[in-house]
Amino acid sequence: MIDLRSDTVTRPTPEMRAAMAAAEVGDDVYGEDPTVNTLQDEVAQLLGCEAALWFPTGTMANATGLRVNGAPGQEVLVDARAHVVRYELAGMAVLSGLMPRSVATPDGLLTADHVQAALSPPAYYKSDLGLVVLENTHNLAGGVVQAREDVRACVEAAHAAGLRVHIDGARLWNAAVALGVEPRQLVAGADSVMVALSKGLCAPAGALLVGARDLIERARRVRKQLGGGMRQVGVLAAAGLVAIRGMIPRLAEDHVHARLLAEALAACPGVRVAPVRTNIVVGVLTTRGAPEVAAALRARGVLAAAMDAVTLRLVTHHDVTRADCEQAARELATVLRDASPA
Ligand SMILES: Cc1ncc(COP(=O)(O)O)c(C=O)c1O
Repeated sequence: MIDLRSDTVTRPTPEMRAAMAAAEVGDDVYGEDPTVNTLQDEVAQLLGCEAALWFPTGTMANATGLRVNGAPGQEVLVDARAHVVRYELAGMAVLSGLMPRSVATPDGLLTADHVQAALSPPAYYKSDLGLVVLENTHNLAGGVVQAREDVRACVEAAHAAGLRVHIDGARLWNAAVALGVEPRQLVAGADSVMVALSKGLCAPAGALLVGARDLIERARRVRKQLGGGMRQVGVLAAAGLVAIRGMIPRLAEDHVHARLLAEALAACPGVRVAPVRTNIVVGVLTTRGAPEVAAALRARGVLAAAMDAVTLRLVTHHDVTRADCEQAARELATVLRDASPA
């Protein structure tokens, strides 16, 4: 099977498995796992922040980022298709008493203008806007990249209004590679950032929350409360170190493969394809349902994700080769040609 459902299906590389087997470990709830501590230090440095904290998942790191930046009863300005809105089971409401103020954007990207437009004079009968969440790259919009200047403008507009900013950077690495900038340049000024190790970087698990030291100390308490205090987790962090030290530049290859698939998809009848810059291809089908097309592709050895009734998503990653993508492109053409009305 050529699995293009997500970059989360990537398996740890042989180098990761060797590093995991050899990892020096300790009890991370006591802060004594040397491998976790090294990973946290390196990621904090990579992102130009004071401190970082390991989490088992991006979802828990996002939930914690929102909790430490917001207060119960506040609203969160966020794109309507953001992961924290669509795929985190209302975690912000259930776990933190926060409510999304969702904005429908064409490309998933909140701008400084969206922040300005959300502001209004305070009044006792209005709920407070507490924070802004950005997602870079934006998953559901098709791996869309937010440029450094636009992130900065958004952060400045938010801070000027007294709002805090959390960045869901599950694929921040892809954004940095696509833009040819350092990851730290895409998060400058944000109050917290989540970055993931288990997507395009191939680690089996793990995400980090980064920010100022005092925010990360509060996050450590929230993580424990959520059940995310882990013990000899250096076995996982060891794979994370291999990921951040060696796997980021190769994401460029995934981006080339995604463009190959996007071109093939765009050439098919009855599909609208969002412009592709990273590893996610999103096509909106106009003649047949996405679940039906995904099933037809599966029967031909290609796994794609039906995100809803009409949206098909293909994600490139380390475990699919160029030849796999060329094969998938041929299968797409066959299935979608068959799917078009005669
Ligand atoms: C944009 C984005 N944020 C957060 C997450 C959550 O990460 P995890 O699956 O590690 O909980 C994902 C997962 O795919 C994601 O795509």
